[in-house]
Amino acid sequence: MQTAGRTEEHPAGGDQDASDGFPEQGEGIRVSRRQFIRGAAVLSALAAAGGGWWGMTRHLALERVAVPLRGLQASLRIAMVTDTHLRSGGALQPFTNERMVSEALSMAADEQPDLFLFGGDLTSETFGGGIGSARRMIDLMAGIGPPLGSYACLGNHDMTAQSGDGILAHYASSSVRLLKDEWVVLDTSAGPLSLGGLGYCGSGYEDAAPLRETNSPRPRILLAHDPTCVLYLDDLDRIDLIVCGHTHGGQVHLPFVGAPWTPSPAYPTYYRGLKALTPRSYIYVSRGVGTVFVPLRVGSRPEVTVFDLSPLPESGEERESI
Ligand SMILES: [Fe+2]
Repeated sequence: MQTAGRTEEHPAGGDQDASDGFPEQGEGIRVSRRQFIRGAAVLSALAAAGGGWWGMTRHLALERVAVPLRGLQASLRIAMVTDTHLRSGGALQPFTNERMVSEALSMAADEQPDLFLFGGDLTSETFGGGIGSARRMIDLMAGIGPPLGSYACLGNHDMTAQSGDGILAHYASSSVRLLKDEWVVLDTSAGPLSLGGLGYCGSGYEDAAPLRETNSPRPRILLAHDPTCVLYLDDLDRIDLIVCGHTHGGQVHLPFVGAPWTPSPAYPTYYRGLKALTPRSYIYVSRGVGTVFVPLRVGSRPEVTVFDLSPLPESGEERESI
């Protein structure tokens, strides 16, 4: 008779007498069947954990996001990467390495976007990244070269880095344009488009001009590191699409529970994916590429985002200038 969890061929008394039919190896090491099974189970568990870690932390997902944009005259494609937290060092260092970042940027470039956006947090000084990693990240982004250019905003790790001046200087010498609380107008095949970049303010966005000033009446897209900015938007209809990162989608995101915590006061309303602010305006929060605190993601795969923008039907009304 067999009982749950045990089998009859496992005699009581432990491993020392359990030769279990395995041939003896003379004076060599004897491995019982039970030891063999335990070893195989441990190795399988380690392999599964390693595979799970790689799949969830290093296996990039391409997220395609379709957004109808008010005032757009034709379709437009934007690729976005954010929160790389690149750290130089050997291949065994567990945080984001250059290979993963290169893969993310290649995925973005392969989509042949009209425009490329970076949402901040080039690297993390706290977790071993330095100005070398930040410069390298900017140089890698400069290699994409989409027709409408590449633009970036600063993340909190960029703003607080001791090498912050070096980051600003390297952006200034790069083809990747850093937008710091400003709007630019892009002349696109889909008509003129206003693109804003928000500086990360840390404690609040009360004085963030891009939240109140736009180059209207064009379609308006705001690149911001932190979705917290939406809490300071006095009119949710003011900006057509806000794209951001910062939260890493929670980095740990559990089934039925969601993320236990994120570093944004916009959590839990805005911390991953696409949400409508009004019937005609949206916010998208990317899970980003890298990790902080621990080099691990759970239920929150790193992503590269591709926005396929299309004209919003029946949007012929004139917008007021602000
Ligand atoms: Fe980040």
